[in-house]
Amino acid sequence: MDLQLAIFDLDGVIVDTAKYHFLAWKRLAEEMGIEFTKQDNERLKGVSRMRSLDILLEIGGQVHTEADKEVLADKKNTWYVEYIDQMDASEILPGVLPFLAELRGKGVKVALGSASKNARRILDRINLTGYFDAIVDGNLVSKAKPDPEVFALGASLLNIRPEHAVVFEDAQAGVEAALRAEMIAIGVGDPQTLAAAHHVIPGFARFGLAELESVLEEKRTI
Ligand code: BG6
Ligand code: MG
Repeated sequence: MDLQLAIFDLDGVIVDTAKYHFLAWKRLAEEMGIEFTKQDNERLKGVSRMRSLDILLEIGGQVHTEADKEVLADKKNTWYVEYIDQMDASEILPGVLPFLAELRGKGVKVALGSASKNARRILDRINLTGYFDAIVDGNLVSKAKPDPEVFALGASLLNIRPEHAVVFEDAQAGVEAALRAEMIAIGVGDPQTLAAAHHVIPGFARFGLAELESVLEEKRTI
């Protein structure tokens, strides 16, 4: 495979923002009398804000109008933004920065493919915006992962065909989106949860272009 593009999910791949999403949803849940656990939070990974709220309401057995749901989601987001506004470059996960620099140095394009509407805000906070040739976030797409739109758009913005692209994802919905976009999917995290991916890595601490090339070499027949 001729590697031309690496697309990165944000939450759980570049930074561990799941903890802030959890704190903000938990606060909302408590206010609403819903019991919400860390395990429940796993179900929200990779899923859009409104879908996350629907899952929370489902857990609590509550039904609300669309207008109320907008208010609830806004409230959660206000608290979430308070957390992310405290972030800085020290929160970039190990190995991410050198890997991004290495890819760019070798002429591989780098894109972001995130469901989050706060993606640009987070990239700015952690000083990473300049590393991306294209940024596709929750404001640009109409269909959430596992729909392939977010990754397909990233590739088309850069005029790169899907077969030359690799996606790094920590969520099942994201891996499915990458596969549906007909790209190579590299899971970041638990091999069992991400079993559908072409390959799974624990993180970027010991992963660079050489390791990626050897994974791609193995997958050449795909
Ligand atoms: C994804 C997260 O990246 O973004 C989800 O994994 C989150 O947990 C989604 O719900 C939407 O984020 P935001 O910032 O638009 O509320
Ligand atoms: Mg993610």
